[in-house]
Order: sequence, then structure tokens, then C-alpha cells
Amino acid sequence: MGQYHLAGTSVSLTSMVHAWQAAQYDALELPHLRWGDDVITALELQGSETVLDAGAGTGRDTMKLVNLLPRGRIIAVDASPHMLGELRRKVADAGAPIEVIESDLSKDFGIHQQCDAVMSVATFHWIADHDALFANLATTMKPGARLVADCGGRSNVARVSDAFAKVTGIDPNSAQVWNFADVPETTASLAAAGFSDIDVRLVEDPAIFASSEAHCAFLTTVVLGAQLETLPPEDHLAIVAQVSRELGEYLVDYVRLKIFARRI
Ligand SMILES: C[S@@+](CC[C@H](N)C(=O)[O-])C[C@H]1O[C@@H](n2cnc3c(N)ncnc32)[C@H](O)[C@@H]1O
Repeated sequence: MGQYHLAGTSVSLTSMVHAWQAAQYDALELPHLRWGDDVITALELQGSETVLDAGAGTGRDTMKLVNLLPRGRIIAVDASPHMLGELRRKVADAGAPIEVIESDLSKDFGIHQQCDAVMSVATFHWIADHDALFANLATTMKPGARLVADCGGRSNVARVSDAFAKVTGIDPNSAQVWNFADVPETTASLAAAGFSDIDVRLVEDPAIFASSEAHCAFLTTVVLGAQLETLPPEDHLAIVAQVSRELGEYLVDYVRLKIFARRI
């Protein structure tokens, strides 16, 4: 637990439930779009599969599945009502046949042995218990079904974290909102959950933003949103601007954990 001292106040960074800002999130140019495209390409869909988007968020990747699955079924699961509100709006606008479920991915959400594939983008590092997560996803999958996922991995945003700690006095990892897992633990967790053909990799994928404004907007909404939630709103702009300056470049030092596995 850290103590915040930027504005001379003292605020504890304790357990946080992150409320995603769906509209701001969708307005950003996200590297997530590329990660999503890579995940969908790796699924090698034939058109009639049942696919679960685990942590579908505002549905930007989920909507891409519609044309790829003309005879298939799409299930979108996310825990955030804000993000799912945006997804539901897109689904309604497009008249898309997508089943939307609001649930924690590590808890049973009623889909059992129905999925040919599970995909996930930028979500698993928000989930503390990967053993429970993978075991639960396994129950949704048919034998032989594929899991393809991207999330933050070990050392993800380490420089941003250091800069935030320097500016606020708070270690952003102290409240354990992030779970940046490593290759061995993820491989072991997948194997214990009933997966084979496991291929887990850490890939450095730094993002550089074009301007201070773009960098600060991204840090505020995507990277440091959960940490900022417990700090006084009137200080957010100053904190993020200082973090950006502290980094010395408009950088987010992403390290991605790429996961490929098959349900036994
Ligand atoms: C960075 S967003 C990614 C959304 C989308 N996949 C994308 O790439 O744009 C992370 C998402 O994970 C969801 N999430 C975090 N923890 C979750 C959990 N335990 N169960 C379900 N969804 C969760 C959040 O609500 C959020 O929508």
C-alpha cells in the first residue's frame, strides 16, 4: 500500500474496483487494435465456429468476428457494465447476433463445453487468479478448442510504473490491480487447467505516442486509470503530465504475454 503526497494530502491506495470509461476508451488510438487483429488472425476461423471473446470490453474485436463467422456463434463476456453498455450499443446498431454476458471470467457464467475457440485481448492481467481463470475458460470449451490471448506480461509498463511511483510516492503494483504473469507460471497454470499444445511468449512491444496530449490521454484512460481512481480527480491532469515528463518520451513500455493453447 502506498501513500500519495503530490498535493500535500495523504491518501491510501487500497483495494480498487476499476470503472472503465468506455467512451474515452473507444475514442483512443489503441495498440489493442493491432493486438486484437493478431489474435483473430491466429484463430484461423472457418466461419461456423462458436467463439468466446473473454474480456470483450467495448466490443471492438467482437464486432470484427461478425463477418468472419457467418454460420457461427459469438459470445462476449466482460465484468464491466460501462464497457458492455458500449458493446451492446454497437450490437444493437449493427443488428449483430452476439450474446452478451456480464460476468467475472474466473466465475462460472453458464457456458459449458460449447466453444470452438476462446480469444482475449488486453484482459487477463486484470485478473488476479489465473488458475481460476484458465480452469473456468476450459469448462466453456469443447475438446480440441483453441485459446488465443494477449495480455500484459512480466515487466509490462515497468518504466511507466517507476515514473508514477516517483511522481506520487505510490507503487502502482501495490494494490495488486495488475497481474503481469511470466511464461513458466502461465504454462503451468494452463497445463493444470487442462490445456495442451501450450505456447506462451513474452514480447516487448513499446508504444510511442505522437504528442503529449495523446500520451497523457492514453495514460489517463488506459494505463493508469485504475491507479488514478483513488486519487483526487483535480490532481489527475498534473500527475499524468508529470509522469509523461518523467518518462522523457511519449512512451508506454508494453511487454505482451502471448498465449496459444488447445483444450485437451
Ligand atoms: C483493456 S480492456 C480490453 C477490452 C478489449 N478486449 C479490447 O482489447 O479493447 C480490459 C477489459 O477486461 C475486463 N475485465 C477485467 N477484469 C475482468 C474479469 N475479472 N472478468 C471479466 N472481465 C474483466 C474489463 O472490464 C475491460 O473491459
